[in-house]
Amino acid sequence: MNKQTEVKLIRAEAAAARKAYAPYSKFRVGAALLAANGKVFSGCNIENASYGLTMCAERVAFGAAVTAGVRTFKALAVVVGGRKPAYPCGACLQVIAEFCGPEFPVLLVGTANMKAAVRLHLKDLLPKAFRFGRGNR
Ligand code: THU
Repeated sequence: MNKQTEVKLIRAEAAAARKAYAPYSKFRVGAALLAANGKVFSGCNIENASYGLTMCAERVAFGAAVTAGVRTFKALAVVVGGRKPAYPCGACLQVIAEFCGPEFPVLLVGTANMKAAVRLHLKDLLPKAFRFGRGNR
């Protein structure tokens, strides 16, 4: 991912994080998903009084894109407040793996320390994604 693309995604995810609905954890997360057609789809975490119903920012972003008819992606960025980036949870990784291959770039940012941003690929986070198909049916 080039610098210009990174900046575009970080802006989008920071805007999404400001919209986060996180009255319980107070942990705001923004995700920005860059589609192959150049569009950016954002998501924020949406919590619920019944905690287990909480939706993570990453999955909200994928939901927005797929609802718009978009299923091919170039990169994902995830931003949280504070100095340390946060890694996507296991459920989100499996959703990312549904649409993106092992080399899919993921950028993780803590807004208070952009220099500590982490750049990796989906295969680093989820080396063995569950696949449903011949062989396990
Ligand atoms: N959260 C995300 O939005 N993405 C993740 O990958 C992990 C966790 C949210 C869910 C909840 O609102 C808050 O972070 C604390 O778990």
